[in-house]
Amino acid sequence: MLLHIKDLHTYYGASHVLQGISLDVAEGELVALLGRNGMGKSTTLKSIMGLVKPRSGVVTFRGTNIFGYPPFKAARAGIGYVPEERRIFPTLSVADNLSLGIKGGKLRTNDTSIWTMERIFRHFPNLEKRAQQQGRVLSGGEQQMLTMGRSLMGNPQLLLIDEPTEGLAPIMVKEVRDVLAGINKAGVSILLVEHNFEVAMSLAERIYLMGKAYVGFSGTPQELQEQPAIREKYLEV
Ligand SMILES: Nc1ncnc2c1ncn2[C@@H]1O[C@H](COP(=O)(O)OP(=O)(O)O)[C@@H](O)[C@H]1O
Ligand SMILES: [Mg+2]
Repeated sequence: MLLHIKDLHTYYGASHVLQGISLDVAEGELVALLGRNGMGKSTTLKSIMGLVKPRSGVVTFRGTNIFGYPPFKAARAGIGYVPEERRIFPTLSVADNLSLGIKGGKLRTNDTSIWTMERIFRHFPNLEKRAQQQGRVLSGGEQQMLTMGRSLMGNPQLLLIDEPTEGLAPIMVKEVRDVLAGINKAGVSILLVEHNFEVAMSLAERIYLMGKAYVGFSGTPQELQEQPAIREKYLEV
């Protein structure tokens, strides 16, 4: 298993916001984590990335125990994180924003699986057109693309992506969806938090649904489609 999480517990102060989360992402998989607001989806991603410190549980990545790793060590292990808030550098060019995602160290330049700027631009043609423009002129959707592209520059094996289509116009939602499909096909495993049910259903091989602080359902999109009561319990307001 690429990412294995078992019985994960996380607190904010006295508030017990993850009460025994278990989930897995296999090599090459795109897995979606869905649920209403405030259930603990973002906290789950942050707990994996070390942005909040989980109190107990098992987190392994490629068989290595990464529980309690700080973010830079999780990143070095091969995990990329795309936060809900698109944090681009507004006064830097798009190309410089991307360069900031490069991690130092052992680049094997003849390895075709390495993400270069050129390869990123093939997946994000919009960014190439704007390579020399400042980050702040980008639309919300382009900023989302830039944030994802920058994460890819670190050559992650697994990307944790938090609500990438939030607040985007329908046409950009589709573009982001297609980009996610493309980078997954290119070999990057993805754990996707998404509020757009159709996007998640069309992309994910497996889906987890969260209730308040727990995972209440896991299955394939087809299994979820066949159980409207489950969808209603965890998703519809
Ligand atoms: N920094 C924080 N401090 C205290 N409570 C928080 C913090 N961030 C989130 N929470 C609370 O933790 C719970 C889970 O939040 P979150 O993981 O952001 O949910 P989701 O991403 O599913 O909307 C919510 O009740 C939220 O109010
Ligand atoms: Mg969230």
